[in-house]
Amino acid sequence: MARQLRDRVVLVTGASRGIGRRVAERLARCGARLVLAARSADELEAVAEQCRGVGAAVLAVRTDLTVPDDRQRLVAEGIRRFGGLDVLVNAAGVCSFGEFSSSEPRILRQVMEVNFFAAAEMIRLCQPHLAESAHRGEPDGWRPAVVNVASICGRWGIPSMTEHCASKHALVGLSEALRAEFVRYGIDVLLVLPGLVRSDDLQRHLLRNEGKIYLDFENAPSPEEVARDVLRALQRRRAELASGWVSWGVWWSRRLFPRAVRFFMQRKVWKFARRDRHRLAQEGQGTVRKEEPEGARRTAADAAHEEGLESARRGEPEAARRDEPEVVRRGEEGDARQRWRSPQLQP
Ligand SMILES: NC(=O)c1ccc[n+]([C@@H]2O[C@H](COP(=O)([O-])OP(=O)(O)OC[C@H]3O[C@@H](n4cnc5c(N)ncnc54)[C@H](OP(=O)(O)O)[C@@H]3O)[C@@H](O)[C@H]2O)c1
Repeated sequence: MARQLRDRVVLVTGASRGIGRRVAERLARCGARLVLAARSADELEAVAEQCRGVGAAVLAVRTDLTVPDDRQRLVAEGIRRFGGLDVLVNAAGVCSFGEFSSSEPRILRQVMEVNFFAAAEMIRLCQPHLAESAHRGEPDGWRPAVVNVASICGRWGIPSMTEHCASKHALVGLSEALRAEFVRYGIDVLLVLPGLVRSDDLQRHLLRNEGKIYLDFENAPSPEEVARDVLRALQRRRAELASGWVSWGVWWSRRLFPRAVRFFMQRKVWKFARRDRHRLAQEGQGTVRKEEPEGARRTAADAAHEEGLESARRGEPEAARRDEPEVVRRGEEGDARQRWRSPQLQP
């Protein structure tokens, strides 16, 4: 039976912009009552006003989801205002784009705090209220729900999005475990997995924007499209929904052709490594320059890299290619030629 959202109380995190904002707007049009959360008070109030404009009852609560007191206050104020809670949508999130080897512990912690710990703790706080909603709604067949907006990064690791992938894998794992655990309370746990999304403000979405692989944010699906899928998952009770064709493609390919997906991901890294190599060559660093004697600036890493390319061309098995000098495995920091052959990227 389809889930009817009219007059239901829905708490949406990350509602000030992007996917969370579009979800809130759609829910308002469906007649839901809303509790909206984000840190940017002005933007959040603007969204709340827009939702009120279509007749929805809205409570906007300025919240930093990484702060336990803020999370508690958010849920308490929502319950005080509406007397209960029927659906939780975890849509707040941040991303880091860049290689792990040049990242900082601070970024890993922040990504995990927002994308995983905050979402997990929100579920913990909301669970008793959702269970109560299930109890109240039993005769009508109503089932409350948690919707976790994760990412296809939670199903397959994408290079240069390491921290993001780790946090989304954790969220996907949590959701799957809770889906079984919450059956006894009558609460559905749903997963929406967007691919790349054209963010409202990419610079705010990305804690770090130093990735070198090619990602086409400009032509990615809009937050509206993902919001439509969030509503679809909610209304049609879809346990897991890959949103957008990239996500859908990766979702199916990882099941049917995992080796091909792995190869495709590595190819993205090889491409930027090659670009870096050409750039360095043009700048005359680390490769043979005409005026220098043969081998003068040719490092051990250059030699091993070229040998690797040669053995790949000859079609030698991967295991043989991995048997390379230690110097290449460790590599000199910042040298793309070592990076593309680093052990993490080997199939
Ligand atoms: N954009 C993509 O390419 C993409 C792809 C796959 C999955 N996703 C996932 O989809 C979700 C939404 O992404 P989006 O593109 O809509 O991002 P967005 O446009 O940057 O919006 C992120 C939202 O999260 C809120 N937020 C961030 N940190 C917060 C904190 N500490 N406390 C409270 N709120 C916080 C932001 O509000 P304030 O800054 O005002 O606090 C904002 O409302 C995220 O979980 C993201 O991981 C995005």
